[in-house]
Amino acid sequence: MMEGEREERLLAKIRAGEPIESPEEMTEEYRENLIHLMTMQADSELAGAYGYVPWITKAPTVEEKHVVAQIVEDEVRHAMVMYGLLADLGVDVEGRVRAHDQVFTMRIDSDADLGTARITSDKRVNIFYYPIDTWADFVFFNFCMDRGAGHQLEDVRTCSYGPWVRAIEGIFKEEKFHIRHGEYWVKRLAEDPATHAVAQATLNRWFIRTMNIFGRPASPKNVLYRKLRLKVRDNDEVRQAFLSEVKGLAGAVGLTLPEWKPAWAELPEESHIPG
Ligand SMILES: [Fe+2]
Ligand SMILES: [Fe+2]
Repeated sequence: MMEGEREERLLAKIRAGEPIESPEEMTEEYRENLIHLMTMQADSELAGAYGYVPWITKAPTVEEKHVVAQIVEDEVRHAMVMYGLLADLGVDVEGRVRAHDQVFTMRIDSDADLGTARITSDKRVNIFYYPIDTWADFVFFNFCMDRGAGHQLEDVRTCSYGPWVRAIEGIFKEEKFHIRHGEYWVKRLAEDPATHAVAQATLNRWFIRTMNIFGRPASPKNVLYRKLRLKVRDNDEVRQAFLSEVKGLAGAVGLTLPEWKPAWAELPEESHIPG
């Protein structure tokens, strides 16, 4: 089949809301962009898991150590599922993970500001370069980033690639659990006068970092993703959905959101997922 004919058939299926199930149905453009987005998710899931690992030993109670261990298990499972989808498309996953395993554990200083830059050869979303130094960091990460990732995963739930849609349902449920864990602790830390100031300072950091993950409005990449139905909404629409939710929740426990200034010129063309 000629590439032009293949593209016509692919776009007709996407317009009709039919799932794409096999590499034979894909154009090279579709395959490349799908692999790029799923690799960003897979690498982020694994880098995220590694960042949580020390908190199995440092969490404040035995129950919380178990919760952290559970969250680490979830994230490694998400990585495994996503790398499995990539292997089905012919990606050398084992080679990739071997080459990056040391890189995935790399973290920068907490007070460094990366903006939207990515600094290693893996494809993790750049928020996963920041360290989780305190228990407040851990729970505000759940509160902000897992929620931000959840809003991005909403698009995946109705995207055009059938195997990804099916994989995302279980991942989505587990992310909800991480978000609830964040909410429980954010309320506790914010409402206790002894930890309120720490809660506000920690929210300030993770809120800004999360706002930076979504990409700039009306980016050409996003237009392409929407044509291929690998995404459904504009980057900024997803950001605004996150913002309005987190604003209400923070306000309810007496926290305020810091001002976030969009640096559109510096934002990545596209950004994707998870926590
Ligand atoms: Fe995850
Ligand atoms: Fe998560």
